Amino acid sequence: MLAAIEILKAKRMLDCLVMLHFHIGSQITDIRKIKDAIREAGRVYAKLSRSGVEVRYLNLGGGLGVDYDGSKTSFDSSMNYTVQEYANDVVYNIKTICEDEKVPVPTLVTESGRAVTAYHSVLVSNVLDVADKIEQDKTVTLSGDENHVVRELYDVYKGVTAKNMRESYHDALQYKEELFTLFNLGYVSLEDRSKGEILFWDACDRIRRHLKNLKEIPEEFEDLERQLSDKYVVNFSVFQSVPDSWAIDQLFPILPIHRLREKPGEIATLADITCDSDGKIEKFIDLRDIKEFLPLHSFKRSQPYYLAFCLVGAYQDVLGDLHNLFGEAHEVLVAVDEENRTRILDLLPGETCERVLSYMNYERAEILEGIWKQLRKAVDKDKVREAEAKSIAKDFEVALSHYTYLEE
Ligand SMILES: Cc1ncc(COP(=O)(O)O)c(C=O)c1O
Repeated sequence: MLAAIEILKAKRMLDCLVMLHFHIGSQITDIRKIKDAIREAGRVYAKLSRSGVEVRYLNLGGGLGVDYDGSKTSFDSSMNYTVQEYANDVVYNIKTICEDEKVPVPTLVTESGRAVTAYHSVLVSNVLDVADKIEQDKTVTLSGDENHVVRELYDVYKGVTAKNMRESYHDALQYKEELFTLFNLGYVSLEDRSKGEILFWDACDRIRRHLKNLKEIPEEFEDLERQLSDKYVVNFSVFQSVPDSWAIDQLFPILPIHRLREKPGEIATLADITCDSDGKIEKFIDLRDIKEFLPLHSFKRSQPYYLAFCLVGAYQDVLGDLHNLFGEAHEVLVAVDEENRTRILDLLPGETCERVLSYMNYERAEILEGIWKQLRKAVDKDKVREAEAKSIAKDFEVALSHYTYLEE
């Protein structure tokens, strides 16, 4: 900086130096870091000013945090200060330094990006299904011919009480292991294995019901909770719409926007529709800790059930990528007036399959021609009928102009 001042002086351009700027990084969670930076920058400004450089603006850059998890702590997804405290600290510290150094106070400028934009955008997406659902509605009736392990699991399941749930859990785990070993050695039939597994999960479910009445879940049962949780499949791509959840484990407030008068009875993690095993969300906000599950309502295929991913307005859309070729989602621009009435201003359709494919240098005509060539060959070899080939080609044609996500 001093070298720059020398150059400006030599060129008689020192009056062009009007702003001192710094940026300490994004999502600063601890106010002490901000205070330290302001004090340092304040001193630099004052010393410059005293040396005759007429800097008029002090630009504090960005960094003002967003309290994603609501915990008001210096945890990564939070901040231990408010915007008011930030403003107070900036103004007070700069003013004190200026008075001390007897220089005029500068005009303060900030470039807070995240704190200004995070709130403007919410991703809304529908739950499509519940994957790997453990069938708790299947009842097992014993014929008496089952392997003894199945009988043991049945007794464990029948005998679960609030008092013996720990013992029951240990027994259930042991018998399940035995069941698998015997199956692998060829001593248990497929039917018995299925019965045994259902009984094991039924016993776990009963144990979980008792656990719900405890103030705190003992550590050894945490795994059980995890195993009994459901995986809700949501019509979105983590990599396109909430990439920071995957990249830096950032937490976002996620909640259902349906059935809010009903207590959610399930616990779930979320999976997206990319075929990437990282396309999931398994960490959720919690006031004291990170939650591994999100309380959700039981999913009914006949009813729409949408989730909102809040505070995604800062950086998620720009960071989002085309992983697995899922494009940008539809956007709806909504205005809220002073009486909290909402109005849709505009609707911007999301990207189509052909558009996303064109980013990868595959053009619509070229793809369709390729498909048609293959179909033609198949028709010539009598593998596909002419009408069938036409219908397949048509399906591709239609699909290319559609959205990359699942549509009703
Ligand atoms: C120079 C500069 N100013 C401001 C910002 C905005 O930062 P934030 O969104 O953390 O407020 C950035 C972001 O990296 C930056 O590089």
